[in-house]
Amino acid sequence: MKHKILVTSALPYANGLFHLGHMVEFIQTDIFVRYLRLKGKDVIYCCADDTHGTPIELKAKELNITPEKLIDNFYHEHLKDLKQFNINCDNYYSTNSPENKAFSEYIFNKAKEKGHIYQKEVEQFYCNTCNRFLPDRFIKGTCPKCKAEDQYGDVCESCSTSYKTTDVINPYCSICKSKDAPLELKKSLHYFFKLQDFRQKLNKYIVTSNFQQQVVNFLMNWLDNLEDWCISRDGPYFGFKIPGEEDKYFYVWLDAPIGYIASTANYCQNNKLDVYDYWKLETSEIIHFIGKDIIYFHFLFWPALLMCADFSLPKQIRVHGFLTINGEKMSKSRGTFVTARQYLEHLHPEFFRFYVASNLTSAVEDINLDLQDFKDKINNELIANIGNFCYRTISFVNNNFKGELSTIGTLYNEAQYKAEIEKKIAAIDKHYEKGDSREVMKELLAISTLGNKYVQDCQPWQLIKGDKQEKEKAQQVMTFAVIILKNISILLQPILPAAADKLQQQINLKNNSSSWNNLDFSVYTTQINKGEPLFKKLEDEPADLIPKKIQFEIRVAQIKEVQQHPNADRLYHLKIDLGNEHGEMRELVAGLKEHYTPDQLLNKQVLMLCNLEPADIRGIKSNGMILVTAKGKKIKLIEVPDHKLGELVYTTHKENSFTQLSYNDFKKIKIATRNKHIFYEDKPLKTDSGKINHDFEDNGIVQ
Ligand code: MSP
Ligand code: ZN
Repeated sequence: MKHKILVTSALPYANGLFHLGHMVEFIQTDIFVRYLRLKGKDVIYCCADDTHGTPIELKAKELNITPEKLIDNFYHEHLKDLKQFNINCDNYYSTNSPENKAFSEYIFNKAKEKGHIYQKEVEQFYCNTCNRFLPDRFIKGTCPKCKAEDQYGDVCESCSTSYKTTDVINPYCSICKSKDAPLELKKSLHYFFKLQDFRQKLNKYIVTSNFQQQVVNFLMNWLDNLEDWCISRDGPYFGFKIPGEEDKYFYVWLDAPIGYIASTANYCQNNKLDVYDYWKLETSEIIHFIGKDIIYFHFLFWPALLMCADFSLPKQIRVHGFLTINGEKMSKSRGTFVTARQYLEHLHPEFFRFYVASNLTSAVEDINLDLQDFKDKINNELIANIGNFCYRTISFVNNNFKGELSTIGTLYNEAQYKAEIEKKIAAIDKHYEKGDSREVMKELLAISTLGNKYVQDCQPWQLIKGDKQEKEKAQQVMTFAVIILKNISILLQPILPAAADKLQQQINLKNNSSSWNNLDFSVYTTQINKGEPLFKKLEDEPADLIPKKIQFEIRVAQIKEVQQHPNADRLYHLKIDLGNEHGEMRELVAGLKEHYTPDQLLNKQVLMLCNLEPADIRGIKSNGMILVTAKGKKIKLIEVPDHKLGELVYTTHKENSFTQLSYNDFKKIKIATRNKHIFYEDKPLKTDSGKINHDFEDNGIVQ
């Protein structure tokens, strides 16, 4: 009998839509599961939403709905995204389930019975306005080191110092933000899990398993100072109540991984299987896929919990890096946060699968989404190479032989091609197994290149002009090409299931002949179907999917002094206030004299380009430029009385660093007036105070 394999992806939080980072993990897992299936393994893929914890409870409160309603809403959204991206999860469940409650209690009780859990009083901040204990991340205050205000309870974003929450100056509750009632340090009795007890067993587990070396290195450092783990939380909390307690709950990270078992149990229940065949049998195999941020939980806490209950330990835990966007972490404030939904509005889901597959290796490396690179990969590799070989071959067979195949001849080194392709198939097998889909894609493209080359060398379009014998040769050549396509279509299934399916319909490869065993050079049919291109070429990158970096630093500024430039009749020498806390003034030279008198300028709040390269203008150093709108000879100052001094001007997201621009660089940036606003890349300029209003005719240029 085949051994059973359970594969999982980490359970995503249920308080938001999936972003592309989530999809990277799902795609990686899905590719692996589809590969195992292709090889005839007995595998199931289970996952779930991770539904508990403070952020979910608070978000529901904010939306004025119950947490149950909130997680239910996102659950359905998540299912839609999984379907769109063709993630073939056998059971997508929820951690807020009866199965999970039962398993959580069971494992907790086992750990307690075996003496791995104790209780201890803990002092924690309590908000008397909200009537709740506050987790560290919900406390803000002044940094004890640099005195920056409104910093998080554990680390200062201004000076990067990390500290104890109790050291924060004037701590306040970030939920109610009330600064009148000071936070109170209060005691509460909590449950602790003695992770220490498992040090040796964990050590053995880690060194004897075949984990990624990078991960093992981290773990070895951590193993030397394992800390006991607080597994309870006071109410209000959304989670499972701890048995025997009134208002204490399991910390979300206790029941979250147990959700893997619960989802399996639910699947087994629905499919007449036994959950313990997966979680108790030594011969079975549990394989987790996770991101690099949750290594600690999965390699230390989780196996320790499983040991308490005598459940099987994961045989593999495969860790991947993060998806970055334009080289940056995904961040809402920087506009580099792309949901799966937003992506689907612009691009084909299989393009993303292809891009992810082409970048993923078995190492813990980040992968970067760059739209130019994305477009190049799709157009040059997927479409120009594989797509083209498919369409060209299938069309040729249809146009010249009414879709009929013949046999494979021995005309043009077929045996050699066959041997080379077989070698590549064996390599692909290994790469899939290791999770190195980047290498899979390379080899697959190489097979397609070989196919293209074979047809190119044989010149069937010449052969069909010849006599009967030549025509037969042409048909044999094309038959061989279709057989290469068959192999490509099977090898491609885990990565691009929809495209592979489409291709198999075109070449008339039946479902029951499309498994790994069918990778060979036999002619499987006498007749193929009509072809059409698998994908359409990407013409433009969708500019609004990931906003471009804004290069200009434009701020709200006030003109404080206007003087005649001593050496130039038509220029003013201005002093400008940018709301700088040290009262520094900027000086600059402006050619506004023909349009405005000094009185018309004095004390006006205007927009200033701050990151312009300083220049010496007739003996005065000019550091910045006051912006106007212009059309023909008409010029108008952009006045912004309703915005705050020093405020940054932006469109969708605020950059936090700017490099200097030359005057010519700035001239190339098109910022223009329309409908009483000012637009850059079709988005209105604004500050935190609101949109910039500016009454000027349309298509005036900002300069
Ligand atoms: N709920 C926990 C996991 C519990 S598992 C028992 C959690 N959820 S999460 O929604 O924050 O992340 C889910 C998975 O997505 C994690 O494996 C995480 O590493 C991964 N990713 C989150 N952001 C990511 C990227 N930007 N790129 C790639 N994967 C990312 O953690
Ligand atoms: Zn509060």
